[in-house]
Amino acid sequence: MRQTIIAGNWKLNGTRPEAEALLGELLPLLSPNANTKVIVCPTFTALESVATLLEGSPIALGGQDLFWKTKGAYTGQISAPLLRDLGCTYVIVGHSERRGRFGVPEPDFDATILAYFGDSDTTVNRKLRAALAGGLIPICCVGETLAERQAGSTDSVVGAQTTAALAGVSVEEVQTLIFAYEPVWAIGTGEVCAADEADRVCGVVRQTVANLYGSDVAETVHVQYGGSVNAGNAKDLLAKPNIDGALVGGASLKAKDFATIVAAAP
Ligand code: 13P
Repeated sequence: MRQTIIAGNWKLNGTRPEAEALLGELLPLLSPNANTKVIVCPTFTALESVATLLEGSPIALGGQDLFWKTKGAYTGQISAPLLRDLGCTYVIVGHSERRGRFGVPEPDFDATILAYFGDSDTTVNRKLRAALAGGLIPICCVGETLAERQAGSTDSVVGAQTTAALAGVSVEEVQTLIFAYEPVWAIGTGEVCAADEADRVCGVVRQTVANLYGSDVAETVHVQYGGSVNAGNAKDLLAKPNIDGALVGGASLKAKDFATIVAAAP
């Protein structure tokens, strides 16, 4: 049986005192069952103080992104060894916000500015492989925009992103991976994907892995759902056979809500 993996993506929220306050409130509320893994992904600047607070707890630490080079003249970048140094064991790669694909239209969005952070299928693959090489478990995000869903291309978009992310990844490595199916239109919008449909598309991710590596291998891969997961809808989503956890944005910033989501794991 696969674990349920609940990760909180704090995005660009949290000075060190804010992160410490959130965690201080959260830790006493969390009592994950034996089959549930909890991860928090704070801002880069709060990683060290959060790591200190997590010492001795079963809660794991993750970064929100990384660069694929380990060191050198790459101003502003964070590498796998730096994340490891701070105590991270997980890292999010290919979040739609880094791919420049937004659920809520950004009023000042300008695609000519490299779609904000410029992640593409190619850079996501490099980041994923760099994470694996550096001993981090990637949480690789895939998902369609509203326009892609309306055009009926959800499965092909998700399948293509999954396939591209896995280029050059070995059969041993793929079994450690976490995917997060995050429909872009559901992120930060309050419009959660219906549980049956989320389950179906998580199944598309798994089938894509199966096509590349075989179904036994695909059965070991974890596929989370992300996009407006909250204390009220988590139970339905997490009960689905192809949904192995949740990647939670907004609700992970509210200790009680995140604890309720963790408690909803089957
Ligand atoms: P929300 O839970 O705020 O919709 O964000 C989801 C997400 O992007 C997690 O990575």
